[in-house]
Amino acid sequence: MKYFTQFESKALADQLIEKALFYKANPRIDQEKGAGKRIGCIFLNPSLRTRASTQIAALNLGMEPIVMNMDKEGWALEMKEGVVMNKGTVEHIKDAAAVLGSYFDILAIRAFPSLTNKQEDIEDFIFNQFIKYSGAPVISLESAIRHPLQSLADMVTIREQSGDAKKVKVVLTWAPHIKAIPHAVANSFSEWAIGCGHDLTITHPEGYQLDPIFTNGANIELDQQKALEDADFVYVKNWSAFNDYGKIVTTDNSWMLTEKHFRHAKKAKVMHCLPVRRNLELSDEILDGKRSIVQEQANNRIYAAQSVISHILG
Ligand code: CP
Repeated sequence: MKYFTQFESKALADQLIEKALFYKANPRIDQEKGAGKRIGCIFLNPSLRTRASTQIAALNLGMEPIVMNMDKEGWALEMKEGVVMNKGTVEHIKDAAAVLGSYFDILAIRAFPSLTNKQEDIEDFIFNQFIKYSGAPVISLESAIRHPLQSLADMVTIREQSGDAKKVKVVLTWAPHIKAIPHAVANSFSEWAIGCGHDLTITHPEGYQLDPIFTNGANIELDQQKALEDADFVYVKNWSAFNDYGKIVTTDNSWMLTEKHFRHAKKAKVMHCLPVRRNLELSDEILDGKRSIVQEQANNRIYAAQSVISHILG
């Protein structure tokens, strides 16, 4: 595997999930595997979990991680081909990515969408420019349309929490927010949950349909209460509109989950990728209560990343 950018197959997902759980029990067992190798973690956008968990994962494998916050510390990058660079950009992506590719054994990139240029975002233009010009193995730390390390950690968490259960009902529910938020986490979660064979229901207010490329195979139920019935796992996430691209269609706060939403899903566990805006996306009551497994999810980010890096190292 040279690139980790999306769900590939159930067989590979199962292998990565098993390896992540193995590393959780034995974090330092492969200390020699990455010895003498470097991973460059390139952030074009902010991060807490992805930044820290990827570095810890690399260190667990004996690798040296180097983090660059390109949005703050690097030269302003030009992404377009053939432009006269007489404005704000200082270095072309084809030069920067080639240099980074020669410095590192693995590159890991975070590049959010603009949410204004739909075509560029759905083509994952910036992220793919790094792949095109770096020549190195690349791990997605969240691109314009996917967040596969988050989704792998989510699948690890579901596997860990559901024990021997063969099939679990997973609900992805939209939550209110005051800002226009990317689709990457919701897209990826849907892609991985369906790919891993879970029974996935997606619920959201009218106008928040996701790109069907990612949701094909999920039940779409616009009545949140119906969707939640008998859920084993409820994944809470905001996203902006896809059809009316990047817009906030509603901020209806009745969609924020409280205990009363779980009348017909007594055993449901609640997941969120974090960061979460308390009492806007999710109530304190849920986040601080017994249903919440958000901290376990965040912890599993380390072992998901470790599993992927280990797989790329071979
Ligand atoms: N869930 C997630 O990716 O968190 P960060 O944005 O803090 O990395």
